[in-house]
Amino acid sequence: MDYKKYISERLKIDGATCEEISAALAVPPDPAMGDYALPCFKFAKIMKKSPVIIAEELKNGFTTDEIISEVSAVNGYLNFKINKSSLAGNVIGRILAEGDRYGSSDIGKGKTVCIDYSSVNIAKPFHIGHLSTTVIGGALYKIYKFLGYKTVGINHLGDYGTQFGKLIAAYRRWGDKDEVEKGGIHAINDLYVRFNNEADDKMQEEAREYFRLIESGDREANELFEWFKSLTLEYVKKIYEKLNITFDSYAGERFYTDKMQPVIDELKAKNLLKESEGAQIVDLEEYGMPPCLILRSDGASLYATRDLAAAVYRKNTYDFYKCLYVVAYQQNLHFKQIFKVLELMGKEWAKDLVHVAYGMVSLEDGAMSTRKGKVVWLEDVMAKCVEKAYAVINEKNPALENKEQIASTVGLGAVIFGALYNNKIKDIVFSYDKVLSFDGETSVYVQYTCARANSVLSKSGKACVLPENYSPCAQESEVLKALSAFPGTVIEAAEKYEPSFIARYAVDLAQKYNKFYIDCKILTAEGDTKDFRLALTRATLQTLSNALTLLGIGVPEKM
Ligand code: ARG
Repeated sequence: MDYKKYISERLKIDGATCEEISAALAVPPDPAMGDYALPCFKFAKIMKKSPVIIAEELKNGFTTDEIISEVSAVNGYLNFKINKSSLAGNVIGRILAEGDRYGSSDIGKGKTVCIDYSSVNIAKPFHIGHLSTTVIGGALYKIYKFLGYKTVGINHLGDYGTQFGKLIAAYRRWGDKDEVEKGGIHAINDLYVRFNNEADDKMQEEAREYFRLIESGDREANELFEWFKSLTLEYVKKIYEKLNITFDSYAGERFYTDKMQPVIDELKAKNLLKESEGAQIVDLEEYGMPPCLILRSDGASLYATRDLAAAVYRKNTYDFYKCLYVVAYQQNLHFKQIFKVLELMGKEWAKDLVHVAYGMVSLEDGAMSTRKGKVVWLEDVMAKCVEKAYAVINEKNPALENKEQIASTVGLGAVIFGALYNNKIKDIVFSYDKVLSFDGETSVYVQYTCARANSVLSKSGKACVLPENYSPCAQESEVLKALSAFPGTVIEAAEKYEPSFIARYAVDLAQKYNKFYIDCKILTAEGDTKDFRLALTRATLQTLSNALTLLGIGVPEKM
């Protein structure tokens, strides 16, 4: 149940919408004051009254019921108390009935959301810099699906450009088929790096020639290109599998080769194209931006040209309600430009394009992703996390069965959670010790709480029965309230494109459950109390597991 919504629908404030009232509702620091509070000073201006009077009037106009049991006006705040026994029955009953669908909804029914994420570059390292786009996009994909939207996950491959000419030139000179076959992306990358270090003018010319050959459809050049592409995809798909990431389309930049001309023609027809030093541009000076380059003076298309074609193609193909681009904030200007150009072309749907920007990830030791050619491969970060998780688990619980498998779920979960926990626009420093801490704000902590709940339930060996008219104590009420907030949190995470809301929610619920677990006995309690506590435990386990699943993180039964 969404209590904020319930309360806001029952408050009449002229000049404020339900959504505004709901957004103003806060949770007081001390639960004794109430479960929700409305700070009335927020409405003093529109109501032209003092907060104290507003609170008093609103209180008098509000009828309590079986859901909101008490309303009070204190110092300009309107405080609400939820009827805890009805809360208990409602929330736990619903969670037990809905199971892994708890938190889902059909608000997205009939709407399609395209999500462009991960979008790797062929034949380039898949490095730590790609972690955020991959896991944030992957989580948004699951969140929107959970809310009933049709989701289209798109890996907009970086498979266009002169670097493939370089790669072929390098391969022709130094490459060995078996070595590349065996070494895969690493071998390809070595060739590329070597080319950049050693190439002289003659080799650069060779590379340009090979690129021209790819462009002109030369069979051999294209076969080599396709081979490099398939080796890259084979490699990244293994990583996606570990991170529980899926895509519906791998249409990359090259896919738009024959789809750019119609866009260029349209730009011309709409008088948007201008010549500047031989190049074709869309002038955006009026909007405070540098021009958007459409064709270089040699006639070559650009990243932006392909993104314009891609946006048009996606609209025509999927008729999206929204199209999200999960791409680092370094590309803020690029997206502002292409969104603007589409708007100038008269595409009313340009307003439905969203750049979901996120900050940088660096490692604790200061090694940035690609500085000085020192690349930190994501694969290595994942492996190291799993290895460290194994060491921690082995120390805590040496007798545990399936330690390797559990370490993998815990270690990979920590990589994902580490990149998701913070508000996405923040730059983050990835620390192995921090993300693997058992008592920090981590996935490990949440997973451990699930294992704890599982252990309680299996020790009880009882089927779950929810007692009627049970009056929960303070710790139990806190867990109940947190449980009831899950569906609203999922919706908010989608609306703000912030999987971190779900990550934070999971930690908060786990903390509240653990406080209850420490303060209240469960297995040695009796009668209704024991039944209620077991049901609360099962509902918590279910909700935590739903939250982690939305983030792509597994839930081990034991730890
Ligand atoms: N491949 C690009 C990069 O690594 C990201 C592509 C993002 N998607 C897009 N439609 N531009 O920077």
